[in-house]
Amino acid sequence: ALPHDLAGVRVVISAGGTREPLDPVRFLGNHSSGKQGFALARAAAQRGAIVTVVAGSTADPGDPAGVGIVRVSDAQHLAEEMTKRAAEADVVIMAAAVADFRPVAFAESKIKKSDTGPAPIELTTNPDILRGLVTDREAGRIPPETVIVGFAAETGDETGGVLDHGRAKLRRKGCDLLVVNAVGDGKAFGTEDNTGWLLSATGTETALPLGSKTLMSSRILDEVRALVPGSDDV
Ligand code: C5P
Repeated sequence: ALPHDLAGVRVVISAGGTREPLDPVRFLGNHSSGKQGFALARAAAQRGAIVTVVAGSTADPGDPAGVGIVRVSDAQHLAEEMTKRAAEADVVIMAAAVADFRPVAFAESKIKKSDTGPAPIELTTNPDILRGLVTDREAGRIPPETVIVGFAAETGDETGGVLDHGRAKLRRKGCDLLVVNAVGDGKAFGTEDNTGWLLSATGTETALPLGSKTLMSSRILDEVRALVPGSDDV
């Protein structure tokens, strides 16, 4: 039986991809399935946590029992929901694949083909939600004991810098834990299995052997639990 070691712990998880609107029928999106985020949600709920998933586009139907779901479309909506909900969470996990860029302009009517060929799409940078949550915590807008977890999808192999990129990203983002996923070659996105490392701000580095997203979730939650104040008592 699973331990009930997250009883009453409030966990907010972002999952899936964002869709950055271009016109009423088109968007810029990505292949995130939401499977890892939903697997974390299920695992946390089974361990007694009070879980909310803020989900963008997903392949996973994502209606696990006992998990609240909020649907969002683009990065700005995701940022709003996460920022608001983080203030009342014990743990925030950014498992969503957030688009780094969005079109500057939204065309109110469908963009037409033209004889002069396609018009360029001008992009602007989306807010870094994870970094923003850390900044909010530093500024006291969310409680200092809130545990913040990020994900990093990195291409390459062990020697090719996945781990180094992960270490640099952990420092840059300032979160407490970073789940580094090796991607590319059919790894991670949309698949059932995941592999990588779990890096903590205190310097611990745990290899996550290739396994199901459920197994990876339970490893991640073991480390999260150790960071939740008073978790030794539950
Ligand atoms: O910088 P990079 O996109 O690789 O970082 C990935 C992590 O940052 C993930 O946890 C992702 O959810 C989060 N992220 C974010 N806002 C962005 C881009 C990424 O919160 N605009």
